[in-house]
Amino acid sequence: MTAQLNPRGDVAVLVPAAGAGVRLGPGAPKALRPLAGEPLLVHAVRRIAAAPSVHTVVVAAPAADVEAVRVMLAPVAPVTVVVGGAERQASVAAALAAVPAGPEIVLVHDAARALTPPELVESVAEAVRSGHDAVIPVLPVVDTIKEVDAGERVLGTVDRSALRAVQTPQGFRRSVLTVAHAAAGDPLTDDAGLVEKQGVPVFCVPGSEFALKITRPFDLALAEHLLAAGA
Ligand code: CTP
Ligand code: MG
Repeated sequence: MTAQLNPRGDVAVLVPAAGAGVRLGPGAPKALRPLAGEPLLVHAVRRIAAAPSVHTVVVAAPAADVEAVRVMLAPVAPVTVVVGGAERQASVAAALAAVPAGPEIVLVHDAARALTPPELVESVAEAVRSGHDAVIPVLPVVDTIKEVDAGERVLGTVDRSALRAVQTPQGFRRSVLTVAHAAAGDPLTDDAGLVEKQGVPVFCVPGSEFALKITRPFDLALAEHLLAAGA
């Protein structure tokens, strides 16, 4: 059944999905590869559409797959599909340009974080709504982190208590993200990084282990197990 988005919602979610998935190994673009029989992108969009504040979803798809993605997502939720770019940042910019007038909160969410719970979408949106211009979901770093030189010699141990692993969706007041993208220079993998360059404070909220980014084959296997266990 197709989910209904909320016409009174104040949130647009951009879903960059145009990457190749090189680290996952040979095959289709990552967002189109199956996880428990359905493309990663279908899992991701289904969860986004289940978040009650969401008014608009814009997906940036690989150029060759735009029509296939439209057909694939039609039964899942009403989404706009645009052509992505060569870098993630270009894909996000293309999706941002397609957001209609209305939503004043924009979330940027990787298709590769296919099991992200709708509750995380809501908590990031709520933090923006409550007055933060830029919000990122984070987890504590669990491993000890060392800084090394080019020869793999340890230079020192980094204080892990001050480090956070950053996830998506990252949330922004719409005008803040628009200005940051218009001013963007070299491509970054993270939208909050663009906003930081503008001097805008970025606020952290608790992330979710289910929002893991499916990057390597191990992550795909883990996601299969999480789904089988009810994620
Ligand atoms: N992405 C995108 N456009 C690009 C590159 C990446 O829309 N030109 C998207 C991916 O589809 C993914 C998200 O950005 O949903 C996070 O990127 P990543 O996990 O690096 O995915 P890929 O770039 O596909 O993977 P890889 O780097 O292994 O090729
Ligand atoms: Mg990539």
